[in-house]
Amino acid sequence: MAKIDLDEIETTLDDYKKHPAVMGTHLIDACKKYLPFLGCRVLDPFAGIGTTAKYLIDYDVVGIELEPEWANQCPKTICGDSLKIVPFLGKFDAIVTSPAYGNRMADDFEAKDNSKRITYRHTIGRKLTTGTTANLHFGRKNGGYEKLHEKIWSVCVNALSDNGIFVLNCKDFIRNSKIIEVTSWHRNVIESFGMQIVEENKIPSKGMGFGKSAEKRVGYENIICFKKIFK
Ligand SMILES: C[S@@+](CC[C@H](N)C(=O)[O-])C[C@H]1O[C@@H](n2cnc3c(N)ncnc32)[C@H](O)[C@@H]1O
Repeated sequence: MAKIDLDEIETTLDDYKKHPAVMGTHLIDACKKYLPFLGCRVLDPFAGIGTTAKYLIDYDVVGIELEPEWANQCPKTICGDSLKIVPFLGKFDAIVTSPAYGNRMADDFEAKDNSKRITYRHTIGRKLTTGTTANLHFGRKNGGYEKLHEKIWSVCVNALSDNGIFVLNCKDFIRNSKIIEVTSWHRNVIESFGMQIVEENKIPSKGMGFGKSAEKRVGYENIICFKKIFK
Protein backbone atom coordinates (compact mmCIF):
# COMPACT_ATOMS: atom_id res chain seq x y z
CA MET A 1 0.00 0.00 0.00
CA ALA A 2 2.01 2.92 -1.23
CA LYS A 3 -0.01 5.88 -0.10
CA ILE A 4 2.98 8.03 0.59
CA ASP A 5 4.34 10.06 -2.24
CA LEU A 6 7.67 11.46 -1.19
CA ASP A 7 7.31 14.17 -3.82
CA GLU A 8 4.37 15.56 -1.88
CA ILE A 9 5.68 18.40 0.20
CA GLU A 10 2.92 18.28 2.79
CA THR A 11 3.37 14.57 3.54
CA THR A 12 6.72 14.46 5.21
CA LEU A 13 9.11 11.61 5.86
CA ASP A 14 8.25 12.03 9.55
CA ASP A 15 4.60 11.18 8.88
CA TYR A 16 5.73 8.12 7.02
CA LYS A 17 7.75 6.93 10.00
CA LYS A 18 4.80 7.38 12.34
CA HIS A 19 2.31 5.46 10.18
CA PRO A 20 2.98 3.25 7.15
CA ALA A 21 0.00 4.39 5.04
CA VAL A 22 -0.50 8.10 5.48
CA MET A 23 -2.93 9.51 2.92
CA GLY A 24 -1.19 12.01 0.65
CA THR A 25 -2.77 15.44 0.86
CA HIS A 26 -3.16 15.47 -2.95
CA LEU A 27 -5.61 12.59 -2.39
CA ILE A 28 -7.51 14.49 0.28
CA ASP A 29 -7.70 17.42 -2.14
CA ALA A 30 -9.20 15.08 -4.70
CA CYS A 31 -11.86 14.08 -2.11
CA LYS A 32 -12.54 17.60 -0.88
CA LYS A 33 -14.33 18.78 -4.02
CA TYR A 34 -17.18 16.34 -3.34
CA LEU A 35 -17.97 17.61 0.17
CA PRO A 36 -21.50 19.05 0.16
CA PHE A 37 -20.84 22.34 2.02
CA LEU A 38 -18.18 24.16 4.01
CA GLY A 39 -18.26 23.15 7.68
CA CYS A 40 -20.19 19.95 7.03
CA ARG A 41 -19.83 16.97 9.39
CA VAL A 42 -17.35 14.43 8.01
CA LEU A 43 -16.51 10.93 9.30
CA ASP A 44 -13.22 9.13 8.76
CA PRO A 45 -13.68 5.63 10.25
CA PHE A 46 -10.07 4.65 9.45
CA ALA A 47 -8.34 7.80 10.63
CA GLY A 48 -4.70 6.71 11.09
CA ILE A 49 -2.76 9.75 12.29
CA GLY A 50 -5.69 12.02 11.43
CA THR A 51 -4.58 13.41 8.08
CA THR A 52 -8.19 13.98 6.97
CA ALA A 53 -9.01 16.09 10.03
CA LYS A 54 -5.67 17.94 9.95
CA TYR A 55 -6.07 18.86 6.30
CA LEU A 56 -9.82 19.52 6.08
CA ILE A 57 -9.63 22.37 8.58
CA ASP A 58 -12.82 24.08 7.39
CA TYR A 59 -14.92 20.99 8.11
CA ASP A 60 -16.20 19.29 11.27
CA VAL A 61 -14.22 16.06 10.94
CA VAL A 62 -14.58 13.15 13.38
CA GLY A 63 -11.94 10.45 12.98
CA ILE A 64 -11.91 6.99 14.53
CA GLU A 65 -8.70 5.02 14.90
CA LEU A 66 -8.20 1.76 16.75
CA GLU A 67 -4.51 2.12 17.66
CA PRO A 68 -3.86 4.67 20.44
CA GLU A 69 -0.37 5.60 19.16
CA TRP A 70 -1.99 6.85 15.92
CA ALA A 71 -5.29 8.11 17.35
CA ASN A 72 -3.49 10.28 19.89
CA GLN A 73 -1.78 12.27 17.14
CA CYS A 74 -4.97 14.17 16.35
CA PRO A 75 -7.39 15.76 18.84
CA LYS A 76 -10.30 15.18 16.45
CA THR A 77 -9.79 11.41 16.51
CA ILE A 78 -11.66 9.08 18.86
CA CYS A 79 -9.62 6.02 19.79
CA GLY A 80 -11.62 2.83 19.32
CA ASP A 81 -13.24 0.38 16.94
CA SER A 82 -15.36 2.00 14.19
CA LEU A 83 -17.69 -0.96 14.10
CA LYS A 84 -18.68 -0.32 17.71
CA ILE A 85 -18.44 3.49 17.83
CA VAL A 86 -19.97 4.76 14.57
CA PRO A 87 -23.56 3.74 15.46
CA PHE A 88 -23.43 6.14 18.44
CA LEU A 89 -22.13 9.26 16.71
CA GLY A 90 -25.28 10.55 15.04
CA LYS A 91 -25.56 11.56 11.39
CA PHE A 92 -22.79 12.74 9.06
CA ASP A 93 -22.99 14.78 5.86
CA ALA A 94 -20.02 12.96 4.37
CA ILE A 95 -17.46 10.19 4.80
CA VAL A 96 -13.89 10.57 3.56
CA THR A 97 -11.74 7.55 4.18
CA SER A 98 -9.10 5.12 3.06
CA PRO A 99 -9.20 1.55 4.37
CA ALA A 100 -6.23 -0.79 4.62
CA TYR A 101 -5.90 -2.39 1.19
CA GLY A 102 -5.35 -6.00 2.31
CA ASN A 103 -1.95 -6.29 0.66
CA ARG A 104 1.42 -7.26 2.17
CA MET A 105 1.28 -4.33 4.53
CA ALA A 106 -1.09 -6.58 6.50
CA ASP A 107 1.69 -9.12 7.17
CA ASP A 108 1.46 -9.82 10.84
CA PHE A 109 4.62 -11.71 11.80
CA GLU A 110 7.79 -10.62 13.55
CA ALA A 111 10.52 -10.28 10.93
CA LYS A 112 13.63 -12.19 11.89
CA ASP A 113 15.95 -10.29 9.58
CA ASN A 114 16.78 -6.66 9.00
CA SER A 115 15.05 -6.28 5.65
CA LYS A 116 12.91 -3.22 5.08
CA ARG A 117 9.32 -4.09 6.01
CA ILE A 118 6.59 -1.56 5.60
CA THR A 119 3.78 -3.18 7.49
CA TYR A 120 1.32 -1.83 10.04
CA ARG A 121 2.65 -4.18 12.68
CA HIS A 122 6.29 -3.28 12.10
CA THR A 123 5.65 0.43 12.14
CA ILE A 124 3.72 0.29 15.40
CA GLY A 125 6.14 -2.23 16.90
CA ARG A 126 3.61 -4.57 18.52
CA LYS A 127 0.67 -6.82 17.70
CA LEU A 128 -2.29 -4.86 16.32
CA THR A 129 -5.46 -4.46 18.40
CA THR A 130 -8.27 -7.01 18.06
CA GLY A 131 -10.91 -5.75 15.62
CA THR A 132 -8.37 -4.23 13.22
CA THR A 133 -8.71 -4.60 9.47
CA ALA A 134 -5.02 -3.78 9.06
CA ASN A 135 -3.73 -7.33 9.58
CA LEU A 136 -6.17 -8.96 7.16
CA HIS A 137 -5.28 -9.92 3.59
CA PHE A 138 -7.85 -9.36 0.86
CA GLY A 139 -8.97 -12.43 -1.10
CA ARG A 140 -8.09 -15.14 1.39
CA LYS A 141 -10.20 -18.28 1.85
CA ASN A 142 -11.64 -17.30 5.23
CA GLY A 143 -12.82 -13.96 3.78
CA GLY A 144 -11.86 -12.17 7.00
CA TYR A 145 -10.95 -8.88 5.30
CA GLU A 146 -14.17 -8.88 3.30
CA LYS A 147 -16.49 -9.79 6.20
CA LEU A 148 -15.13 -7.12 8.53
CA HIS A 149 -15.16 -4.36 5.90
CA GLU A 150 -18.74 -5.23 4.93
CA LYS A 151 -19.82 -4.76 8.55
CA ILE A 152 -17.94 -1.48 8.93
CA TRP A 153 -19.24 -0.06 5.62
CA SER A 154 -22.75 -1.01 6.67
CA VAL A 155 -22.60 1.03 9.92
CA CYS A 156 -20.92 3.91 8.06
CA VAL A 157 -23.60 4.09 5.36
CA ASN A 158 -26.27 3.99 8.09
CA ALA A 159 -24.61 6.99 9.73
CA LEU A 160 -24.89 9.07 6.55
CA SER A 161 -27.72 11.58 6.16
CA ASP A 162 -29.96 11.32 3.09
CA ASN A 163 -28.01 12.73 0.14
CA GLY A 164 -24.83 12.18 2.17
CA ILE A 165 -21.56 11.72 0.29
CA PHE A 166 -19.10 8.83 0.71
CA VAL A 167 -15.64 9.39 -0.76
CA LEU A 168 -13.46 6.28 -0.83
CA ASN A 169 -9.72 6.19 -1.51
CA CYS A 170 -8.45 2.71 -2.40
CA LYS A 171 -5.64 1.19 -4.40
CA ASP A 172 -5.31 -2.13 -6.20
CA PHE A 173 -2.11 -4.08 -5.79
CA ILE A 174 -0.10 -6.87 -7.37
CA ARG A 175 0.07 -10.38 -5.90
CA ASN A 176 1.70 -13.28 -7.76
CA SER A 177 2.04 -11.06 -10.85
CA LYS A 178 -1.71 -10.39 -10.99
CA ILE A 179 -3.54 -7.17 -10.30
CA ILE A 180 -5.78 -7.69 -7.29
CA GLU A 181 -8.82 -5.50 -7.73
CA VAL A 182 -9.65 -4.71 -4.15
CA THR A 183 -11.12 -1.34 -5.19
CA SER A 184 -13.87 -2.99 -7.28
CA TRP A 185 -14.73 -5.17 -4.33
CA HIS A 186 -15.20 -2.13 -2.05
CA ARG A 187 -17.14 -0.30 -4.79
CA ASN A 188 -19.58 -3.21 -5.18
CA VAL A 189 -20.17 -3.57 -1.45
CA ILE A 190 -20.79 0.15 -0.92
CA GLU A 191 -23.17 0.20 -3.91
CA SER A 192 -24.98 -2.83 -2.49
CA PHE A 193 -25.87 -0.69 0.54
CA GLY A 194 -27.83 1.68 -1.70
CA MET A 195 -25.10 4.21 -2.50
CA GLN A 196 -24.95 5.56 -6.07
CA ILE A 197 -21.67 6.32 -7.81
CA VAL A 198 -21.27 10.00 -8.65
CA GLU A 199 -17.75 9.91 -10.10
CA GLU A 200 -14.60 7.78 -10.18
CA ASN A 201 -11.10 9.15 -10.62
CA LYS A 202 -7.63 7.71 -10.90
CA ILE A 203 -4.85 9.75 -9.30
CA PRO A 204 -1.28 8.92 -10.37
CA SER A 205 0.94 7.68 -7.55
CA LYS A 206 4.55 6.72 -7.70
CA GLY A 207 4.46 4.30 -4.80
CA MET A 208 7.41 3.20 -2.72
CA GLY A 209 10.54 2.44 -4.66
CA PHE A 210 11.75 -0.55 -2.72
CA GLY A 211 10.68 -4.08 -1.85
CA LYS A 212 10.17 -7.17 -3.97
CA SER A 213 7.47 -5.68 -6.17
CA ALA A 214 8.86 -2.17 -6.49
CA GLU A 215 8.88 -2.47 -10.28
CA LYS A 216 5.38 -3.83 -10.41
CA ARG A 217 3.26 -1.50 -8.38
CA VAL A 218 -0.07 -0.22 -9.56
CA GLY A 219 0.58 3.37 -10.57
CA TYR A 220 -2.60 5.07 -9.43
CA GLU A 221 -4.94 5.53 -6.49
CA ASN A 222 -8.71 5.39 -6.96
CA ILE A 223 -11.05 8.02 -5.59
CA ILE A 224 -14.71 7.05 -5.81
CA CYS A 225 -17.53 9.37 -4.80
CA PHE A 226 -20.94 7.85 -3.91
CA LYS A 227 -24.18 9.55 -2.90
CA LYS A 228 -26.85 8.20 -0.55
CA ILE A 229 -30.03 8.64 -2.51
CA PHE A 230 -33.14 9.48 -0.54
CA LYS A 231 -35.90 6.97 -1.34
C1 LIG B 1 -5.00 3.05 5.50
S1 LIG B 1 -4.87 3.49 7.17
C2 LIG B 1 -5.53 5.12 7.18
C3 LIG B 1 -4.46 6.18 7.21
C4 LIG B 1 -5.01 7.58 7.35
N1 LIG B 1 -5.81 7.95 6.19
C5 LIG B 1 -3.87 8.59 7.54
O1 LIG B 1 -3.59 9.37 6.63
O2 LIG B 1 -3.22 8.54 8.57
C6 LIG B 1 -6.14 2.53 7.90
C7 LIG B 1 -6.23 2.72 9.41
O3 LIG B 1 -7.41 2.08 9.89
C8 LIG B 1 -7.17 1.65 11.21
N2 LIG B 1 -8.19 0.65 11.55
C9 LIG B 1 -8.25 -0.63 11.13
N3 LIG B 1 -9.33 -1.24 11.61
C10 LIG B 1 -10.00 -0.32 12.35
C11 LIG B 1 -11.21 -0.34 13.08
N4 LIG B 1 -11.95 -1.46 13.17
N5 LIG B 1 -11.61 0.80 13.70
C12 LIG B 1 -10.86 1.93 13.64
N6 LIG B 1 -9.69 2.00 12.96
C13 LIG B 1 -9.26 0.90 12.31
C14 LIG B 1 -5.76 1.11 11.14
O4 LIG B 1 -5.16 1.04 12.43
C15 LIG B 1 -5.09 2.12 10.20
O5 LIG B 1 -4.44 3.12 10.93
